[in-house]
Amino acid sequence: MNLLNLRQDFPVLQKNPGLIYLDSAATSLKPRCVIEAMDAYYNEFTANTGRGSHRLSRAATEKFEKAREEAAGFVGAKESELIFTKNVTESVNLAAVSLERMGHFKGGDEVVVGFFEHHANLIPWQQLCERTGGKLKVVKLNPDFTLDMEDLRRKVTKKTKMVSMAHVANTVASIQPVKEIAGIAHDSGALCFIDGAQAVPHLEVDVKRIGADFYGFSSHKMLGPTGIGALYAKEELLGKMPPYNYGGGIIKSVSFERTEFSGGRAKFEAGTQPIAEALGLAEACRYLKKLGPGNVHDHEKKLTARALDAMGSIEGLGMYCPNDPDRQAGVILFDVKGIDPLDFGVALDESRNIAVRTGFMCAEPVVRSINPKGLVRASFYLYNTMDEIRILGEQAMAIRRSFG
Ligand code: ALA
Repeated sequence: MNLLNLRQDFPVLQKNPGLIYLDSAATSLKPRCVIEAMDAYYNEFTANTGRGSHRLSRAATEKFEKAREEAAGFVGAKESELIFTKNVTESVNLAAVSLERMGHFKGGDEVVVGFFEHHANLIPWQQLCERTGGKLKVVKLNPDFTLDMEDLRRKVTKKTKMVSMAHVANTVASIQPVKEIAGIAHDSGALCFIDGAQAVPHLEVDVKRIGADFYGFSSHKMLGPTGIGALYAKEELLGKMPPYNYGGGIIKSVSFERTEFSGGRAKFEAGTQPIAEALGLAEACRYLKKLGPGNVHDHEKKLTARALDAMGSIEGLGMYCPNDPDRQAGVILFDVKGIDPLDFGVALDESRNIAVRTGFMCAEPVVRSINPKGLVRASFYLYNTMDEIRILGEQAMAIRRSFG
């Protein structure tokens, strides 16, 4: 990867000289080609999709469906298995509510999640258990912040109806053995949902190889726009599951007495779709494909190794992520003894224009268990440089000294 050329693809980096953007786990920067793909829709062929006989509508529909093919292909799925959603949050809600309406959950049934879950992959299942009289079981972590697979095996029982797990945790950053997790779920007769929000931007993901029933991802974390994400679901399940939202675009026929819904994934996309966003997401997939997901992760591993080294040598700094770049996806999660995490983040911003995330990071249970005041997260992506990591290390050291 030619990093210098690549950085020129990101207008935000040109517009903010000196910015050290280490907050890609919250949202990634967007390359120019993604922004241009969205602009083209607004400038050249604005029209609604699937709803008109005129040529602009046909052009928009064709490009929208090509975008679906691109996004599906990026994770090894067929276009008939990929529902566009707003993000992983909506993907999880869709699966939970639709399966509930289908009668998949009864009183006493269990849903199993990991201790590190993001609220998006926790609250929908927790609320579902409350509604249905079910039980939410939480799998422990190992001391290196990976999932305790023995505890998972113990907690998945014949009563388990869903195992829902982060592929990569958004806080502690560990990569989970998702194929094995799906296998454990299926051996007990449960379904498996994998939250891929933090995995698809960094790793080569093949949903068929993983074998889970559902896999969700978000465009804005993988160089694409906000407002669109996707849910892969096995076709046989899509056939059986009822709609999540009701409205136009998902029907075969409607009368005042009844509605007959479309089949397959079509019944899940009610209302006008995020058309420009789909085109932007497809462009982001093309951009990542050109670089090669393997190369992206290799680059991040080098950055992570350097950061683990630099931050690990700072006295009073605690790190809460795997200490092995191969087992995590480009994150340093940390705190510094005696310094409020928010103050630390502000100091990084004010001193050297270093953007990090602080607080509970939408994963309050795991973060609170480490530090009730929250933590600091530096997250890396393909446009970050070794020099930026060096500056992070130096500045973290300087801030610790100035507070000490
Ligand atoms: N889920 C996003 C994060 O981890 C917002 O920061």
